[in-house]
Parts: sequence; structure tokens; C-alpha cells
Amino acid sequence: MKIGLWPVAAAAMVGLIVAAQPVDETRVVVSGATRGYLAPCGCTKPMSGGLRRRMASVRQLSLGGEVLVLDTGEFVTGTGPQDVLKAQTVAAAMRTAPIDLISYTQSESRLGAATATQLQELVGGKLRSSTSLESAFSLPRPVTKGNVLSVSVETGAGQARSWREVLREVDEQAADEHRGVVVLFGGDRELAAEAAESFTSPVVVVYRSKEDALTEPIRVGKNWLVTPGDLGKTVLGFSFVNGGWEKYRVNRLGPDVHDDPQTSRLYRQYLKRVGDAGLFEKLSRTAAQGFVGSDKCQPCHAEIYKHWKKTSHASAMPTLKRDGHDRDPDCVSCHSVGTHAADGYFSEKRTPTLGAVGCESCHGPGRDHVADWKQKTISQSAQTCTQCHSRQTSPNFDFLTYWNKVKHPVGKTGGKPK
Ligand code: HEC
Ligand code: HEC
Ligand code: HEC
Ligand code: HEC
Repeated sequence: MKIGLWPVAAAAMVGLIVAAQPVDETRVVVSGATRGYLAPCGCTKPMSGGLRRRMASVRQLSLGGEVLVLDTGEFVTGTGPQDVLKAQTVAAAMRTAPIDLISYTQSESRLGAATATQLQELVGGKLRSSTSLESAFSLPRPVTKGNVLSVSVETGAGQARSWREVLREVDEQAADEHRGVVVLFGGDRELAAEAAESFTSPVVVVYRSKEDALTEPIRVGKNWLVTPGDLGKTVLGFSFVNGGWEKYRVNRLGPDVHDDPQTSRLYRQYLKRVGDAGLFEKLSRTAAQGFVGSDKCQPCHAEIYKHWKKTSHASAMPTLKRDGHDRDPDCVSCHSVGTHAADGYFSEKRTPTLGAVGCESCHGPGRDHVADWKQKTISQSAQTCTQCHSRQTSPNFDFLTYWNKVKHPVGKTGGKPK
């Protein structure tokens, strides 16, 4: 019995010794590469990403202790009016989270000086690049949190300073201060490896990629290469612990992550502005192609029509309307008929029978065939599905499995064999 006490006492002493040694941990949270993808299409598993989920995740991961929160920038890919609205929304959302540094990249500067300045105001001055000399966007000193320094560098043309020079300086500073470095790096994996090799201090280089985030970091000696991947679908977490990198974790923004309420509010405002600006109505269109709407097919193909009406294709526009996307140019084209053409879907009022994935979405414009059924201008193929069922919008798409779910009867009417 007495002997039994010894291990307990010993364990308690070991515990004291461990507690006396300070665990020096700085946590780091990295996301970004929104690239215009503010919302996932649909809510089905495994559709992932979206600004609302991401901000919720970033906010949650930033709680407790010393946490360096970074964003790799690239709010949008284009420069059109919807891109400006998106960039403003991303910036406003980021203002609500405790982000320390956001890369100022070509994507933001391409939007023009006036918009970039406005974005800078929206994010509260966190949009920075160490290679820029524009005073409003330059990052003269690294951002410091706990034991980690962070900088953001662009590698392309038009930079005022060389990224190699910036990284040499930050490496020296980190060595003096015994800190680790996280570089938000405006280049690909190969160039990032070169950057990581040039460091003497422990560094994590966050590179740009169109691939998914990696389940494990790429190791270059004791240094790491990581990426948040494409379209803001992940939030990375890792730690600088007692002089080394540890605890790498990829948080995927699946349907299990709730929407951040503040970002949801900003997102609703964004959709309203997209609608108010009439962006969908202003899209350029080709000449009329002869779209007539599925109702025109009903008289002759009654059974097929009846079957189609029960599929989710027939209610694709109400699906969008449910959360206010029915006038969002990013969504409408796949949830309706022929938006690329002058006589395609325009609005519920003007083109009520085109607000669905209709017969003509798969069979092409029906005007000539409706006027004279002997005109066999109508066709379909497996490719007609994948123009809408893309990797992005329908990750589980498989022709046979999917066709079996929506397969309508064939023959002339779909009733008795023709
Ligand atoms: C490239 C074509 C395409 C675009 C663009 C698109 N969608 Fe979809 N959407 C689809 C397809 C295909 C499905 C069915 C996916 C599946 O079930 O595999 C779908 C399904 C949905 C669903 C239903 C999911 C469910 O669980 O019932 C919603 C909601 C939705 N989309 C909303 C949107 C929104 C919002 C946008 C714009 C941000 C959008 N979509 C843009 C093709 C698209
Ligand atoms: C006036 C009656 C009529 C209307 C309206 C009509 N069809 Fe047909 N359709 C036919 C007949 C009859 C056939 C069978 C032709 C044959 O067997 O050679 C046919 C055949 C087809 C075929 C088989 C391929 C082909 O071209 O022969 C498709 C696909 C088709 N119709 C789609 C549609 C769609 C989509 C609409 C509405 C836009 C539509 N039809 C409207 C009478 C009609
Ligand atoms: C014009 C775009 C478009 C085309 C073309 C298209 N789809 Fe769809 N599909 C959609 C959209 C949008 C949805 C989601 C509708 C909704 O839920 O409101 C969908 C939903 C579906 C669903 C239902 C998924 C589910 O589990 O509920 C199936 C199955 C499907 N499509 C199969 C096909 C097949 C097979 C083809 C080709 C023969 C095809 N689709 C062509 C846009 C399209
Ligand atoms: C999701 C895509 C899709 C939609 C929507 C769709 N079809 Fe089809 N349709 C097909 C495919 C694929 C085939 C070929 C089926 C086969 O060969 O087994 C087909 C076959 C047909 C045929 C028979 C052709 C033949 O040779 O017998 C007719 C007629 C037809 N469709 C009419 C319609 C009408 C009318 C509607 C709307 C009420 C409609 N389809 C909606 C994809 C679609």
C-alpha cells in the first residue's frame, strides 16, 4: 500500500517539472484564395467552402492564446462590376474577424486604385504586401504575434522590391529574435521551395495553388510548404512550438461548419446589390436561338413532360430563389434554360416557362421542331449534363447513376411505344 504511493508522488513531481517549463506556442491560422467563390453551389454533401463558413471557422480557431491569423488575399479573379461587389463583401467580412495580415495581390490591385483604396479602408488597413512600395499597401515591417513573424510577398512583375531581398531581411530579423516566419507567398510550389531553402530560421511558406490543400505539409528540411488550395475551401491551422513547426491541420469547410451570422448579413446585402445593379439582366447575349419553354412540348410529349415535372430539374429556379440567388449571374445559367441567348431565361415575369432545367437544356432550342415535328434539330448527349454537372457543382456526378434518377420515358410521347 505504501509502495503504491510512490508512483503517484513521482508523477506529481514530474508534473511540477513539466509545468515549470513554459510551453512556447504560437498558433497560426491561414486561409484565403477566395477567387470570387463566395458561396458554394447548393448545400448537398460534399459541397464545401464559402465565405460564411470560412469566417465562422477563422473566428473560432482564433480564440484562446496567441494566434496569428493570416489570409492569402486574391478576393476575386475578374475586374467586372460583380467582382467589385464581391471584393467589397470579402473585405467587409474580413473586418469582422481578427485577421492580422491579408496579402495585397495582383487580384486586388487589378481592380484599380480607387477600388483597392476602398478595400483597404473596408479591411481596416490589413491589406498589405512587403514588395509593394505604395504606402497605403506596403508592409515595411513584418507582423509579429507571439514568436512568429509574418510577411507577404508577390513574385510577379511590377513589384517595387524583390521578394528575395524581403525574405533575406526577415530571415535575419527572425534569427536575431529567435522567431519563426510565415511567408504569404505569391508564387507556386516550386518557387516556394526555393524560398524555403533560402531560410536559416524556421519558416512556413504558404504558396498559391489551384489544387486542394494537402493533408500533410511538404517538408523542406525543418521548414514547411503549405497551401490553402483553391476557392477558400479550407482553413489551415498549425503551431510554432519551442522553435519548431507542429500540429498541422486542414479544416475543410463542409456542410457541418455553420454560417457566420455577421458574414451572412453582409452576404445578403451583397446579393441585394447584385440584384439592384441588374447585373444578370445586363449580361451580353447571343442572338435568339429558338427557345420556347418546356410547356410547348407538353401537348405532344405528355408522359415525358409529366415525368420531367417531378424531377428536381423542373424546380431548379425555385431552388435558387429560396436563398435569394435567382438574379445572381453566378448561378442562374445552370438553373434555367438558355441564358446565353436573347430568347433564353430572363426573369420569372418575362420568361416564366424557362425558369427550370427544361427539355431544351438537354435537347437544345425547340422552336423549329415545335413548328414542324419532322424537323429533327433536337439532340442530346452525355456532355449536355457536364456543362452544368461540373466537378465544382456536382462532385459525385456519374452519368449512368444520375441519368437513372432523372431518366424520362422515351418514344414519341413517352407513353405507348411509337
Ligand atoms: C455550372 C452550373 C451551376 C452553377 C453555376 C450553379 N449551380 Fe447550383 N447546381 C448545379 C447542379 C448540377 C446541381 C445538382 C448537383 C447534384 O445534385 O449533384 C445544383 C444544385 C444546387 C442546389 C441544390 C442542392 C440541394 O442539396 O438540393 C442549390 C441550392 C444550388 N445549386 C444553388 C446554387 C447557387 C446559390 C449558385 C450560385 C452561387 C449555383 N447553384 C450555381 C449546377 C450549377
Ligand atoms: C406537335 C407535336 C410536337 C411538339 C410540340 C414537340 N414534339 Fe418532339 N416530337 C414529336 C414527334 C411526332 C416526334 C417523333 C418523331 C419521329 O419519331 O420521327 C418527336 C420527337 C422528339 C424527339 C426525338 C428526336 C427527334 O428529333 O426525333 C425529341 C428529343 C423531342 N421530340 C423533343 C421535343 C421537345 C424538347 C419539344 C418542346 C420544345 C418537343 N419535342 C415538342 C412531336 C412534337
Ligand atoms: C442546364 C443545366 C443542367 C443540365 C444540362 C443537366 N442538369 Fe441535372 N441538375 C441541374 C441542376 C441545377 C440541378 C439541381 C436542381 C435543384 O435541386 O433545384 C440538377 C439536378 C440533377 C439531379 C438530381 C440530383 C439529386 O440527387 O437530387 C440529377 C439526377 C441530374 N440533375 C441528372 C442530370 C443528367 C443525367 C443530365 C444530362 C442528361 C443533367 N442532369 C443535365 C442542372 C442541369
Ligand atoms: C436532363 C436532360 C434531359 C431533359 C431535361 C429532358 N430530356 Fe429528353 N432525353 C434525354 C436523353 C439523354 C435522351 C436519350 C435517352 C435514351 O436514348 O435512352 C432523351 C430522349 C428523349 C426523347 C426520345 C427520343 C427517342 O429517340 O425516342 C424525347 C421525345 C424527349 N427526350 C423529349 C423530352 C421532353 C419533351 C422533355 C421535357 C419535358 C425532355 N425530353 C427533357 C435528356 C433529357
